[in-house]
Amino acid sequence: MSQEPDTSGPSGITTDRFLFGGDYNPEQWPETLWQQDIELMRVAGVNAVTVGVFSWALLEREEGIYTFDWLDRILGMLHAAGIGVILATPTASPPPWFTLTHPDALPIRADGTQLWHGSRDAYCPSAPAYRAASSAIATALAERYGSHPAVTSWHVHNEYGTFCFCDHVAESFRRWLRRKYEDLADLNRAWYTAFWSQNYTQWDQILPPRATQYLHNPTHAVDFRRFMSDEFLQCWREQRTAIRSAGANQPITTNYMLPPWNHLEQWSWSAELDFVSMDHYLDSEGPDGETHAAYAGDLSRSWALGRPWLLMEQAAGVVTLHGNRYASKGPGRMLRNSLSYIARGSQGALFFQWRAPAAGAEVWHAGLVPHAGADSRVFKEVTALGAALAQIAEVADPAVQGPVVDADVAILWHADGWWALENRSLPSEHLDYSSAVRATHRALWQQGFAVDFVRPGADLTAYRVVLVPSMFSLDDAAVAALRAQVGTGGTLVVWYFSGVADQDLHVTPGGYPGRIRDLLGVRVDEFLPLDPAHTVELSDGLIGDQWSENVQLTTATAVTSYLQGELAGRPAITRNDYGNGAAYYVSTRLDLPSLKAFLSTVTAQAGVCPVLGSAPPAGVEVIRRNGVDHHYLFVLNHGSEPVRLSGPGTDLLTETSTAAGGLLINAGGVAVVREDVGATEWSLAVD
Ligand code: GLA
Repeated sequence: MSQEPDTSGPSGITTDRFLFGGDYNPEQWPETLWQQDIELMRVAGVNAVTVGVFSWALLEREEGIYTFDWLDRILGMLHAAGIGVILATPTASPPPWFTLTHPDALPIRADGTQLWHGSRDAYCPSAPAYRAASSAIATALAERYGSHPAVTSWHVHNEYGTFCFCDHVAESFRRWLRRKYEDLADLNRAWYTAFWSQNYTQWDQILPPRATQYLHNPTHAVDFRRFMSDEFLQCWREQRTAIRSAGANQPITTNYMLPPWNHLEQWSWSAELDFVSMDHYLDSEGPDGETHAAYAGDLSRSWALGRPWLLMEQAAGVVTLHGNRYASKGPGRMLRNSLSYIARGSQGALFFQWRAPAAGAEVWHAGLVPHAGADSRVFKEVTALGAALAQIAEVADPAVQGPVVDADVAILWHADGWWALENRSLPSEHLDYSSAVRATHRALWQQGFAVDFVRPGADLTAYRVVLVPSMFSLDDAAVAALRAQVGTGGTLVVWYFSGVADQDLHVTPGGYPGRIRDLLGVRVDEFLPLDPAHTVELSDGLIGDQWSENVQLTTATAVTSYLQGELAGRPAITRNDYGNGAAYYVSTRLDLPSLKAFLSTVTAQAGVCPVLGSAPPAGVEVIRRNGVDHHYLFVLNHGSEPVRLSGPGTDLLTETSTAAGGLLINAGGVAVVREDVGATEWSLAVD
């Protein structure tokens, strides 16, 4: 797809080289080590560090009394060494004196448990004292460092997401609800409060969704999620105002994160950030970790509306998975992962953190300088990565404003889809938004397609194929955009449990998926969730599990049918011709091979090809990043076989031509190829 750059939203980050480095916490170390740190940074090619993320207690030892001397010294040293600073505001971790002075600014869990300082993120985002103190420290930092030559940008807070259910939050939530609904009767209607005697007669009867005797009201719970995202955004805006009012002009961001939870509605956030940045930690030690990195990269670029963004954190090695399992990063993986983000538009590869800490809660979290020091496998790879990023600096061309990657396929993505399925009284325990979206993205990744994510309601007509996994609720704008995409000749694929409800999570009556029945040409009168032990075979050999439905055809035709059980002979996947395009409906969960086979057929019919025309060899990732004069092919061999890339171009890492005999890329190896102008003939095969 080729589209004009969108001029709304984040402006994107522009740098004339890739940023390399990460969180640097000099305050944790004796000053005698600082010069050594800087020398090692120069050895490694580090050119950007994030300073001050958790420094509040050492910057403001008493209310309003700031101690900037150590920060002055380290910023001066970094600047002298040519290392840029992404200066953080430390508001993710208020100091102990703050919480003891303002106990009402401590967070309270849904069950009423009071949380205390002694870890981090001990704050209530709605507490007036916390908001005032955050603005005050942001102002103080910006007044002092707003024109410091080392400071290249601002990193406000760290990973917004601390939930609180206290009375401050209750008051703010009610204000948000009054703005949204205006009339209490409309809230009662939207929340369906006639059920279980929940009708509200005064605004101040409404609470955050605190612990209840039984199931929560799902619309109340999702509205609270939406409110919290807006509340965090308001916290961010106040700090932006503080920084700008103090005269600082550098770009301002905050770092997103997408682990098994999701606290922000990234589309509305990204419209306000100067550039999008993301922290990403692999969720798997195995090969699926690569698909996770790609997922994070494609999401970040999409939230940035196709413009360059910044990978703010990743791990150089050992990282804690899900609290108690540790995963390491084998040789070569740091480089391959970093290039995967960069290929997808990141303007750098930053890490958490520079030096592995000597003690503390994250003592076993990897650092660019591990406990073993510079004489270590990890630091050698860090240095090699720094050199590689310098070799490919031309790819970072600041003139490229987007789209940095062209994609013909897009997946609909919205936090509402995630939050709606947090309701635990669903018809199957397997309905899970992030798994459904990941599965779709993974199937495309394994076949080498470039993929964007798109916002419901956005203009989708530039995409040939739009995929809608698990988007339970759709508002009018989202429905209209899907109709327009198909009507103008696009191909749409909608999976079960999408389009069932409106934005208030009210099921549209008359058969599922009520919001888009006519677009899909089907009517489902019954969901038939499957026992987890059972699979269903479809007439074309595909395999489904977890879910099935009784699909009636209205205007669609059956592409494939259920073979066994009470649905034997009934449609499983359907296709409806609508306007100039086609809309498919998939009524079961396809296993990975089936999903790949199905998407391969659908994309081929829509005339969409993988990046190099056909699927790459197993485990090999190919992404094309756009430049102004050239395009760049990133080939990342995560597989176990050497592959050969042939075509008219030059590998920037080895400065070798890929023409003639082609370029051998060993298992675990990488290539970043500047394509000759007009190059189209590429081949990639196991050698
Ligand atoms: C997050 C935080 C960091 C650190 C890492 C550990 O991304 O921003 O401070 O805790 O996780 O993986």
